Amino acid sequence: MSDKQKRILCVVGTRPEAIKMAPVILALRAAPWAQVRVLATAQHRQMLDQVLEVFGIVPDVDMNIMRPNQTLPELTARLLGELDGVLADEQPDVLLVQGDTTTVMTAAMAAFYRRIAVGHVEAGLRTGDIQNPFPEEMNRLVAGRLSRWHFAPTAGSRDNLLREGFDPASVHVTGNTVIDALMNVVDRDLAPPVGVAEQERLVLVTAHRRENFGAPFRDVCRAIRAVADGHDDVRILYPVHPNPNVSAVAHEVLANHPRITLCAPLDYLPFVAAMKRAYLILTDSGGVQEEAPALGKPVLVMRRETERPEAVAEGVVKLVGPDYDAIVTEAGRLLSDPVAYATMAKGVSPYGDGNAAQRIVSILQHDLLG
Ligand code: UD1
Ligand code: UDP
Repeated sequence: MSDKQKRILCVVGTRPEAIKMAPVILALRAAPWAQVRVLATAQHRQMLDQVLEVFGIVPDVDMNIMRPNQTLPELTARLLGELDGVLADEQPDVLLVQGDTTTVMTAAMAAFYRRIAVGHVEAGLRTGDIQNPFPEEMNRLVAGRLSRWHFAPTAGSRDNLLREGFDPASVHVTGNTVIDALMNVVDRDLAPPVGVAEQERLVLVTAHRRENFGAPFRDVCRAIRAVADGHDDVRILYPVHPNPNVSAVAHEVLANHPRITLCAPLDYLPFVAAMKRAYLILTDSGGVQEEAPALGKPVLVMRRETERPEAVAEGVVKLVGPDYDAIVTEAGRLLSDPVAYATMAKGVSPYGDGNAAQRIVSILQHDLLG
């Protein structure tokens, strides 16, 4: 490594981190000044591996942390303990983390203890309620506090950080790298989702938020079944998250319906194909709230609050909560009122232009090498 080179360690733990960090890793690989290394905590296993494969990324270090139905305290403790040893071996100049998972919070803390500079990709998202989303709002508060660079996807996320007192020189609006990833794959030759008849309107569903576990998630599932019952040209496609708290209830409430297809999580390319084919998307996912508007697909968000208010303000995403009546009513309206549908299917994309990763790399180069 020459004097001019810097060691950048990119951390990925879960599926969305891999999707959103992949463009940064690829852009760093093309930068002569960067020696990029990839650390997979593997907080997720299968869901992480398939994304890394899509982007041709092989981790340099793989901690293989995931355990079935892992609890937050044990996950946090194991990650923090083992990350310290990895950082001692790797000695990076900069650690990059993305988003708000337990991997992100613990990696930022481990770097802090070793006095390694942290860059936070997708910084400044806030609901203002530490219980929602749980535990992600706390994770991003901690990661933000420990970061030297805040790569905010939107002006709104930058403003959140400035209100918290961060040095404006450390906060950069870059766009969200999720749009870089989407643009990388969306024009590939994607096979349409299997089992969806040509005349059927596809309603794509994802759900996994911890704050909805229990009765709220059961209501979500009952509502999805009612949407299928109420519209006989609708096919529901629901790739079920492998978290046992989700999959057990989803299968119990939604199995054995002729127009509801439950499947394992789709790999990223088939999932993008399903979003393209969808008429409507019901989700509590963060990433899907960002991707679907870029594809012109209306989204009903089955959460009470969102840290992604931009698409709501544009009128292309609507919050319905994990609320049976609101989900059935709003989905019913979009499925039966073409005017209401058209106003939400505008194709407005407030989360980036596909060049976020390049901006992040340029900012790092400027600050590290002058
Ligand atoms: C995690 C993140 C959440 C993120 C979500 C994206 C935390 C606390 N949660 O939630 O912020 O939105 O990922 O999907 O960081 N599992 C598998 N295979 C996999 C992945 C998960 O079997 O590839 C199962 C395992 O039983 C695992 C469980 O899901 O223990 C929960 O995984 P975990 O990462 O703790 O939480 P998620 O609900 O996936
Ligand atoms: N996704 C996927 N397969 C699926 C469901 C989602 O590849 O079956 C992708 C989706 O395109 C998005 C990301 O996973 O980029 C969102 O991940 P998730 O909903 O698990 O987490 P969140 O974004 O809520 O943190």
